[in-house]
Amino acid sequence: MKPRKIKDKIYWMGYVDWDARLFDSLIPLPDGTSYNAFLIEGSKKTVLIDTVESQFAGDLMAQLDNVPKIDYVVSLHAEQDHSGSIPHVLSRYPDAKLITSPKAKGMLMDLLRIPEETFITVSDGENLSLGDKTLEFINTPWVHWPETMVAYLKEDKILFSCDFFGSHIASTELYVNDEARVYEAAKRYYAEIMMPFRNAIKKNMKKIASYDIDIIAPSHGQIYSRPSFIIDAHKEWIEGPPKNLVVLPYISMHNSTKKMVDYFVASLVENGVNVEQFNLTVTDIGKLAIALVDAGTIVIGTPTILAGPHPDVVYGAYLANALRPKANFLSIIGSYGWGGKTVEILAGMIPNLKVEVIEPVLAKGLPSEANFKALENLAETIATKHKELGFK
Ligand code: FEO
Repeated sequence: MKPRKIKDKIYWMGYVDWDARLFDSLIPLPDGTSYNAFLIEGSKKTVLIDTVESQFAGDLMAQLDNVPKIDYVVSLHAEQDHSGSIPHVLSRYPDAKLITSPKAKGMLMDLLRIPEETFITVSDGENLSLGDKTLEFINTPWVHWPETMVAYLKEDKILFSCDFFGSHIASTELYVNDEARVYEAAKRYYAEIMMPFRNAIKKNMKKIASYDIDIIAPSHGQIYSRPSFIIDAHKEWIEGPPKNLVVLPYISMHNSTKKMVDYFVASLVENGVNVEQFNLTVTDIGKLAIALVDAGTIVIGTPTILAGPHPDVVYGAYLANALRPKANFLSIIGSYGWGGKTVEILAGMIPNLKVEVIEPVLAKGLPSEANFKALENLAETIATKHKELGFK
């Protein structure tokens, strides 16, 4: 891909990765992703904001072939998907200075072995004049690392936000046109990376609210010409109350737990509660993460194997604990053959979840009438609790 003009003297560069299917060796990417860099040619200084994964450095360097001088490289976030090609850029432009937050400086020295004399660190609110254009750096920590910042180009009212407001989408469309598609992709990204840090991100949202922003240019996915769309979506995910929704990740080995899941889901629906159930043997873990953004209650379904929960359920519980969704309630359902410590083990795995644990329902072998009655009671209890808290 060649450089693409955003506005006069402002260009998209980077790499659109149509083939990417897993990010950080963890996160499914059904729609690929992009690594966006941005070139700004001021009347006196030229700046490159962020780079690309090192394996795509050749593409970025080819896009820079007609750029004789870069005065500054800005690294908004030290993670290698944006910083990985900085050494290549500095090698071609040895006089360029690398602008970072103070925290990012140490990280980039560790991650990429960039020499200390290359850096200029900037403080929160500091301005950098490019001549006829001015960049302001705004500290926005914990999106999703502690050193993150964004940059606001004052004259053009563009916010360069790196991971903040990003989405994993590969596209030839530079700007967001299909907002529904981007909503889902951005929510997936928020859920998997930023949800655990939502209190910090809420502060960052307040901080940027005072800026007059025409365009948000993240370093993943498409550019927003209607910033309110993605800002409002983040407000909803961060500040909105949980929904009248049970998220039910489960595994079943011999169909007993599955019978309980089916009965329980039907009971919840009868009681007016929505459900998203995820069979963890086939689930896109990103879909589960998206559902957890809204869950009022999490119910884990598991058989007992090796005297504890199924290992895939352990993975799901670990992930839910790490993502810290805002759900208020949690319970466990499932079947066991002769014994075990399934409930105790799972309960010990979720210390980050600030939830009220509702009495689990465990069946010995095939669920009995008493077990089904207990599942009905559990569904009624959840419905009542959701109503009491006004979940919609
Ligand atoms: Fe896109 Fe945190 O890197």
